Amino acid sequence: MSLPKRIVLIGPMGAGKSTIGRMLAREMGYRFLDTDRIIEERCGANIPWIFDVEGEEGFRQRETAMLEELAAEPETVLATGGGAVMRPENHALLKKHSVVVYLRTSIEQQVERTRKDRNRPLLQNDDPEGVLRTLFAVRDPLYTELADIIMHTDRKSPRLVVRQLVNRINPKTPRQQRQVRKEGRNHV
Ligand code: S3P
Repeated sequence: MSLPKRIVLIGPMGAGKSTIGRMLAREMGYRFLDTDRIIEERCGANIPWIFDVEGEEGFRQRETAMLEELAAEPETVLATGGGAVMRPENHALLKKHSVVVYLRTSIEQQVERTRKDRNRPLLQNDDPEGVLRTLFAVRDPLYTELADIIMHTDRKSPRLVVRQLVNRINPKTPRQQRQVRKEGRNHV
């Protein structure tokens, strides 16, 4: 089984894309890239500032441009922002030469992991949980549709998630290979 050129992580805010992505990249010997962080570096400003000044639409344009630029990067694990699946034109960019992994996480976990965060403009309001629920209802079908692997992360340590992902992406033993054939694209 040949290794994918890229591993692209999709999923909601608080799914652990950056933490898991960084660990997975180290494990695979791939480079770790994060679209949000590169957008911030290029802009010389953080995401709340970009949303303030350019609006969400301005941010989404930068996000699409970044996905275009990174679509050909070899041997990378790419963490994407939770809303990257919202533009249909991003879908082919996410899937190009990639294994797409959906880190599926309960609303409770998302709330817990984003509670103290001030860098996510969509959650700076009176009802961040309500926002996360609404976004999940819209986006979960898109994440599911795009995913080659759906990885459930609740009640799993990042280390376990990474081990399960490595086994899925690069199964070494015959038993692992049989398991992957059996599961197909199924949930892990
Ligand atoms: C967003 C998620 C954020 C970031 C921006 C918008 C979203 O990324 O791209 O605040 O629309 O869900 P994370 O998923 O890494 O938090």
